[in-house]
Amino acid sequence: MWLVSALSGANTLGGGGNPEPDAALLCHPGRVRLTVPRLDDDEIVLRPPAPGDVDAITEACQDPEIPRWTRVPSPYTRAHATDFVERSARTWKQGTDAAFVIVDAETGRLLGAIGVHRFGGEDDGPEVGYWLEREARSRGVATRALRLVADWACRELGVRLLLQADVRNAASRRVAEKARFRFVGEAKAPAGCGDCETVAVYELTP
Ligand SMILES: CC(C)(COP(=O)(O)OP(=O)(O)OC[C@H]1O[C@@H](n2cnc3c(N)ncnc32)[C@H](O)[C@@H]1OP(=O)(O)O)[C@@H](O)C(=O)NCCC(=O)NCCS
Repeated sequence: MWLVSALSGANTLGGGGNPEPDAALLCHPGRVRLTVPRLDDDEIVLRPPAPGDVDAITEACQDPEIPRWTRVPSPYTRAHATDFVERSARTWKQGTDAAFVIVDAETGRLLGAIGVHRFGGEDDGPEVGYWLEREARSRGVATRALRLVADWACRELGVRLLLQADVRNAASRRVAEKARFRFVGEAKAPAGCGDCETVAVYELTP
């Protein structure tokens, strides 16, 4: 089943420490080796999550709009954020999952998280998921982050990217469209995604 989760905050919950992201090499099992990138534009920087992000992730994920549309657990505790940070570091090393935090380019403040998940050969990947903390919304940050991640993933992985959003999640659907993802159709939402029932499925081909 490939229609599973842009809703999957499960892998987009926050940060996993990769102490030397620029130097680390990743192996895509049997296929490609990836250098952990630093992605940025004039306003935001995307980098692998780090232990120092745990508090900000925990605080951001108290907003009910995040678990409502994603697989981010609710209630969300510091242990969830710590687990996410540690898991992200592991999956970066394994080359199966690329989680980033989105930070303000000027201040370094955490704005949200975005990731490309399940590119290790799983049927339902690779797929993009994201969330922003409440104060960072409605100024184009998610669109900027998605464009950066999608460009990188298409270049490095060279395969179709999936993105799913609840059909009622107008902001996320608009973000997908602005980042030039193509609407494919609707599907039953996977279990565990807030109160989602039906998702709109998008794809981006390299
Ligand atoms: C979805 C989310 C990531 C969007 O982040 P954002 O930085 O505010 O998005 P952007 O500013 O880049 O773009 C939002 C677009 O949606 C539009 N929009 C926002 N709310 C809308 C609504 N209720 N109806 C229609 N359009 C809406 C905005 O006007 C904007 O489009 P525009 O640039 O054409 O005006 C953010 O709202 C969020 O984190 N929500 C909670 C978690 C979530 O839903 N994650 C996605 C799961 S698939």
